[in-house]
Formats: sequence, C-alpha cells, structure tokens
Amino acid sequence: MNTEIPFEENQHESSFIDLLADVMFGTGEEVAATAQKEEKDNFIQSWKNEFESLAGIAENFPAKEEPDEADNEEKWQEIRKRFGFNNANPVIIPMNAANLCPEPDSLITAANNFRFMFNKDVAMQQRMGDGEWVTLVRESRRILAEGLGIESGKENNLAILRNASEGNNVINGGYQKWTGMENVINWEENHPTNNQAWELRQKWGGGDDRFEIRRVTSQELDLKNANRKDEEIARCFTRKINDKTRFISISETSNGTGERIPPGVIKIIWEYINGDPMLNDCHFHIDATMAYGAGPINQLVKHCHSLVSSCHKWFLGPKETGILYMDPNKAEDFVPLIFAYDYQIKIPNLGELPRDAMRFELIGQRDDANLITLALTQTWWNEINTLNPGARVVELANYLKKKLEDNNWDIITPYFGEDSVLNEQRSRGIVRVRAPRSERNNKKSLYEWIYESPINNVQIAGGGGGDERPRETFRLCPHIYNLMEDIDKAVDNMNAWRDINVK
Ligand SMILES: Cc1ncc(COP(=O)(O)O)c(C=O)c1O
Repeated sequence: MNTEIPFEENQHESSFIDLLADVMFGTGEEVAATAQKEEKDNFIQSWKNEFESLAGIAENFPAKEEPDEADNEEKWQEIRKRFGFNNANPVIIPMNAANLCPEPDSLITAANNFRFMFNKDVAMQQRMGDGEWVTLVRESRRILAEGLGIESGKENNLAILRNASEGNNVINGGYQKWTGMENVINWEENHPTNNQAWELRQKWGGGDDRFEIRRVTSQELDLKNANRKDEEIARCFTRKINDKTRFISISETSNGTGERIPPGVIKIIWEYINGDPMLNDCHFHIDATMAYGAGPINQLVKHCHSLVSSCHKWFLGPKETGILYMDPNKAEDFVPLIFAYDYQIKIPNLGELPRDAMRFELIGQRDDANLITLALTQTWWNEINTLNPGARVVELANYLKKKLEDNNWDIITPYFGEDSVLNEQRSRGIVRVRAPRSERNNKKSLYEWIYESPINNVQIAGGGGGDERPRETFRLCPHIYNLMEDIDKAVDNMNAWRDINVK
C-alpha cells in the first residue's frame, strides 16, 4: 500500500516534444517545404508511440481488486523490456539502484540525438540568453519542478546540479554564518556527504569549535521496533534541538541499513521547527537520494527547507544529474561553492547573485543534452504513474526480505512480515543482510562472487559493504525493471555462496 500521493500529473508532455522538435528541426513554416519535415514528423510520432505504449501498459493490465501475480509480473516485464540490459548477453541483472541505475533505452537515444544536434551548431546564440537550448533547459526545470509538486512559477527554487554529493556540500560547505557555540543535528546513518562532510567543515583549518555535531543513533531511533510511535522517533531529533541549532540534516532513507525515517516523523520535526519562533534559524535539510524515483517525494519537499537527490539512481535519469530544492527564504544563507557563468554567460557582481536556488547554478558550461533529457525522464515517470511504481519498489523489497528470512539470512533492514504499512514507512527499496565470509582460505565475498561466479548463468550486480571479514554485509536494491524471478535467482545464488564460502 502506498500512503503518499502519487507523482503530480504532467499534462505537458506533448507540448515539450513539439518544442523539442521545433528546436531540432525548425518550426512549422521553416520545415514545411524541406526534407526535414518528414524527419520531424517521424520524431514526434516516435515519442507519441513511446508514451502511448507506456500508457497502454496500464490499460492492458488494469488494477484488480484481487491482483493476479502472473498478470502483475507480465506488466512489469513490459517495463523491463525498455532497458537494454534485458537483451544483453549475458544478462547482468542490476539490483543496486541505491548506487546507479540503467536508463530506459528511449531516453538514452533521445540524449544521444540531442548531442548530435548540439554539435552541429555550437553557436553561442543557441546556448545563451534566450537561445533555443536555454529555452529547453528552462522548460526541463519547469517539468521537473512540477513533478516534485513545486508551485508553478517557483521552478527557480530547483537547482539542477551534478549529483546529490554536490547538493549536500552546497549545504554543509556553503553555510558561512557560524558564530560559534552552535550545533548541527545528524543521523548516524546519513550518507558520508551529509555526515563526515559536516565533520570536515567543522574541523577544517585546525579548530573543532565552529559548531558541535549532535548525532542521533539508530539505536535511539529503534526503527525495527513495531511498537515505536512516530512521536517517539521524532523526539530523538527534537530533544537535541535548542536555540543554537542551525541544521537538522538527515537522509530520508539510509543507503546503508535501508532504514527510513517515516513520513510522519519528518512532518513532526518540520512542525516542531516551525512552531517555535526561537528556531527561525534552524534549517531542515533532507537527503532524498534513496527516495526520488523509489516513491513520491512531494510531501518531503513540502516539509523541509532544502532537499537533494541524484537523478541517476532510482529516478533513472541521465548520469551526472541531481537536484537541489531550496526554500528561497534560506537561499541567501549560503555562499555558492562555485562562482561562474549562468546561461547568460555572465558572472554576476557579488551584490547581484540570484536570491534563489539559481545562485547554485553559476557553474559554467554544462551538458545541456543531459539536462534536457531530464524532462523526458520525468515525462516517462508520469506515463507509468498509474502502475504505482512506488508500491512495486516496496513489493519487490518485501518479497526479497521474506525469501531471505525463510532462508535464515540475518536481515539488517527493518522488516515487519505481512504488515505492509509498517514495511513501507520504515524502509523503501534497500535490503541489506549480514554476509560474513569464512575466516579461513581465500574465499570470495558475496558481493564479488554473485557478480563474477554465476551459477545457472546468473550474474547479479549488487552492493557490498561492511568492514573487514567477518563483518561484511551485502545489499540488494531491486527496482521496477526487476522481476520476482530475479529475486528468486538472487537468493538461490546467495544460498549457494553460503554453502561454498562460509564453511
Ligand atoms: C543517501 C545518499 N546521498 C548521497 C549519495 C551520493 O550520490 P552521488 O554519488 O550520486 O552524488 C548517495 C550515494 O549512494 C546516497 O545514498
């Protein structure tokens, strides 16, 4: 069951394709009498077909009251067919969405087409001011913002950056208003770019008194305890807040343990900060990298001052893209990490820095084709929204956890058996288990073995982790391109590894 609202509907996909086609081939009058007319028509038609066929999946497999498992798998098989790995030989099954995802083939083709076109005319007239490429990048931002539920007209609160690492560092490296004796509240399971990066900022220059870091531990949160109430979990954060707290900075879902801070907890923290005028300078930052594309995040955007994510993970977007949403009332608290051109190819004077998230996009020349493809990625999601991809991510993870439990694996990620509401609130698509190697001989880690040493021709790309043997762990993160049979194969292979490599 999915308890959040779905991605915002986007009514503009055909107008974006038309705009794209106008830029690539010329407007109606310009191409009417040329050979490009046919090419342009074919381009538009191919995208219409793509979107119609995606929308058709939902029509062919309507939601049923008592879902039929075979039907369900057939539906997701249709999605899987859109990814190149499915036709590769050998098939390397991707199951590491927390790290990097394959993109749907149609989006890779689109990005490549743009890139060819871009290289045919690299004139500044196209790339600056109101040039056509700039218009498309602006439109891309608008479509992405709409997908995040950002109010129309406020898309400049959304910076498009390289990745989540950069976004997190805008926050911890960009804030320069420290006066001493202040504090930052972290969760120990934050990604290093939102965790150790704070320590680096704190200690840089030799001192360690710029601010104090107050860490909330997972033991305190006790997210695996089914009886734990949202209020109790939220209290672990709020009891550390005082009038010197400048940031609460958390990962919404941990890439390590897969633990998720429940939506209700995030709302309580947000309301706590907003309910006390003494906390006006307390900034709530959310790293939503394990959430964006794994489920809807509109509610998160509404309950924070800033939010980051990479787009090349669960969101299935082009490589080296990420987002940073910033509340415009907070943007001026941050010095941009890079001070370079905007799309006017102009470096603003200091006093003229943009007062919104655009100040974080003064980053010089960019890969515009990638940025424009992001609009198509969002449109792709809009088309499959009715399939409820967020629920599928949780369904896959729960199926995996059940199988692992049945096979006596020690699961680190919260798992509540049949309780689908709790499963979804306390985790998303990440599943981590303990996978200690034998102390003897030169045995392979599960991470290496499952990729390199296929049994039954199955090779799986998962994620390693943990420290030296015997404390190793292994992570699988199935996504909408995976099928239940992938999970069956993964667990069979894990069991085989255990038989060979543990004893
Ligand atoms: C929660 C979280 N934040 C940030 C990052 C950094 O992502 P990137 O390497 O795409 O910048 C990751 C990477 O796995 C992550 O899991």
